[in-house]
Amino acid sequence: GLPERVTIYEVGPRDGLQNEKTIVPPDVKAEFVMRLADAGLRTIETTSFVHPKWVPQLADAEEVLAALPRRPGVRHPVLVPNERGLERALRNGVTEIAIFGSATETFARRNLNRTVDESIAMFAPVVERARAEGLWVRAYVSMVCGDPWEGDVPIEQVVSVARRLMDLGCSQLSLGDTIGVGTPGQVTALIEALAAAGIGPDRIAVHFHDTYGQALANTLAALRAGVTTVDASAGGIGGCPYAESATGNLATEDLVWMLHGLGIDTGVDLEALVATSRWMAERLGRPSPSRVVQALSPR
Ligand code: HMG
Ligand code: MG
Repeated sequence: GLPERVTIYEVGPRDGLQNEKTIVPPDVKAEFVMRLADAGLRTIETTSFVHPKWVPQLADAEEVLAALPRRPGVRHPVLVPNERGLERALRNGVTEIAIFGSATETFARRNLNRTVDESIAMFAPVVERARAEGLWVRAYVSMVCGDPWEGDVPIEQVVSVARRLMDLGCSQLSLGDTIGVGTPGQVTALIEALAAAGIGPDRIAVHFHDTYGQALANTLAALRAGVTTVDASAGGIGGCPYAESATGNLATEDLVWMLHGLGIDTGVDLEALVATSRWMAERLGRPSPSRVVQALSPR
């Protein structure tokens, strides 16, 4: 069966923008987030407290949060890799964070300058302190369906890293197909393997990049396997600067079109969302790659 309601975890302001070469001013980023909230999104990953040299586009995390009026019911999780990042997040009133591990050694090295073991050791005190401060913590695991340098990634390897990240005390696991190579059979098998390892679909979110056009099919497979939280990026913008060949996430509009068509509630106003993505596309200077945004835009 399919769920009656799906929680969309919007990543446009973070995953969507992190790879943009031209720096988007903080007030534009804050307006993007506000417009997404106006369109009905309730969980909006807003920025990252990572090293500014590693992701220059998000070096203004403090300014974006400062420019953002908080409203009840809207959550603004941020990426935090280490204790330095957590310090910055706490000083800026953050209440939800996400750590981000890798299923593969190569990506751990490229994205975090650490081995898998070292990165988990880096996250451990972050999760411990965050929980002591009452924060909600999500764990991403990347390269769950394949890695651009290592090729196929064995399911047991993904499950093992996922288990170690969740054992730190995280509340939710987001499965990242960072380069968008996965297909629905893989997704079903992975969710089943995680359930067998004690991580049920109620604690799993899926995070698909649409590089190979598989993101919606993979999402449907995940919903059928019991998942009810889906990551997406408004307008389909984005990509990871440290992963070759990663394009944007599944577009939020494409996801909403499918879910509403299936009679699944999202709380999102599609028209307002499309208008937001078109507004952002103008700021970025190129059209949105989302098929639904294109279909609903006047020619
Ligand atoms: P490092 O160079 O090993 O850092 O980077 P370090 O621990 O050696 O520290 C070096 C200096 O950086 C120190 O300063 C620190 O204070 C400073 P110094 O003492 O030399 O003056 N520093 C910081 N400054 C500000 N904020 C911080 C911070 N940390 C250290 N947080 C590090 C290690 C983890 C910091 C670096 O590799 C990094 O920032 N990586 C982030 C990369 C990233 O953001 N990638 C994109 C997000 S992941 C993604 O997109 C995938 C996802 O979408 C899921 C999917 O699709 O699969 C989530
Ligand atoms: Mg991503």
